[in-house]
Amino acid sequence: MADRERQFLWGAASAAYQVEGAWQAAGKGLSNWDVYTNVYHVTEAGAGRQETGNVAINAFDRTQYLADIALMQELGINAYRFSLAWTRILPDGTGRVLQAGLDHYSRFVDDLLAAGIRPVATLFHWDMPQALEDRGGWRNRESVGWFRDYAALVRDRLADRVETFVTLNEPFINLFLIEPLVEIAKESIGNPGAITDAQWTRQAMAMHHWMLASAETVGDFRAAGFKGEVGLSLPLMPTLPERPGEGEDIAAASLADAVINRWCLDAMFNGRYPDEVVAEFARRDPAFAAVVEDFPRLAANRHDFLGVNFYAPAFVRRDAAAPLGFRWGAYNPDPAPQAFNGPVRPDYLKVLLERIRDDYGNPPVYITENGAGFGPSDEVMADGTVKDPRRADYVARHITAALEAKANGADLRGYMIWSLFDNFEWLQGYSRRFGMVHVDFDTLKRTKKQSFETYREIIARGVGPQAG
Ligand code: BGC
Repeated sequence: MADRERQFLWGAASAAYQVEGAWQAAGKGLSNWDVYTNVYHVTEAGAGRQETGNVAINAFDRTQYLADIALMQELGINAYRFSLAWTRILPDGTGRVLQAGLDHYSRFVDDLLAAGIRPVATLFHWDMPQALEDRGGWRNRESVGWFRDYAALVRDRLADRVETFVTLNEPFINLFLIEPLVEIAKESIGNPGAITDAQWTRQAMAMHHWMLASAETVGDFRAAGFKGEVGLSLPLMPTLPERPGEGEDIAAASLADAVINRWCLDAMFNGRYPDEVVAEFARRDPAFAAVVEDFPRLAANRHDFLGVNFYAPAFVRRDAAAPLGFRWGAYNPDPAPQAFNGPVRPDYLKVLLERIRDDYGNPPVYITENGAGFGPSDEVMADGTVKDPRRADYVARHITAALEAKANGADLRGYMIWSLFDNFEWLQGYSRRFGMVHVDFDTLKRTKKQSFETYREIIARGVGPQAG
């Protein structure tokens, strides 16, 4: 433990559905994303064409992933964050267990460790078993138990070698952005509507079940004698009024902060939700008021660390037609063009980390995602590498900002880039690239980008004396 506390983690992050492929291998069950892409063709909304994760970048294949691990070693990372596909372990979400799925991840963990790379395992990164989706998915309170049972299977198999687990990835983005957009895409490809207040109201209960599932899983791991650390990865973004000084935008930004950031942060570290979140959703759905009865269960199971996923701040504007009366994410005040996930503002990563230090008792933090997505035109193939100067610049500046916050006392323990390889970007399919290694999606050939070299040099330099 002492060694681990001292060693700063330099890593990269990925998620099963975005990289694995092999969608029907070894008895795997269908996930919601298998259905969204193969049946409803939802990427037509974001990428303009039908794409799936059926093959993705073939990372399920051992020959392929061993070659990928060799690239990780060349980069010099000492941690790799990946997620497990629930449907490879429980094809129906509950009940029948596939040992082959557990064997696969167990071997992958061994292969990472043999390469000197620490596994950081995320239990759920958005690919819900379709059999459970058919029973209401996360909106069904039974989802808390389904998840705990699945988490226990993974724990019993991997916890002797995996010291760091992330329960769930990005509740807010998955529940309040991606899933509503999928719902819209399923119904109206080519003529997308806007996300509605009613959708958000429905998702609020699912959010509660995520937070309960995560907290209860922390408790289960402790009760089972787990000695490592269990955290939750949140999508965090400082919220700023789109029109500074405009009262209604200031109020909108404050409500957005409560919903996007403080809802989950308060749940993790204060064992409750912000009053305005409870009030807003209970006004729309009286059943939501009962969530307060579960607060003691949140409070009793405090997470060991916070996973920060940071891409950009959110500029917020009052908009009566948008869910909860605010809209966010569409505005970029910077003259410099933005990356796919928003304005490039590393200064706000520092602000965020220092706020977590001040407002939440300085918990241990890993940056579990940070990165830049661009379209193919931002990358130029030359001399056997891909030139991606904007990503190289993004990464260097965000790491500098993060290390400044660390130097100012934030308990930052690691940084993981999203992502090492180009991969399947949800509704955008393969039309947005986030990798430091280019992937030709037809041949699956990997080619290092300029940003790979930038990151390699940063890692080689280290974090200085604070790292011990
Ligand atoms: C998600 C990733 C996604 C990335 C880039 C995060 O919201 O966790 O799955 O690929 O952002 O958009």
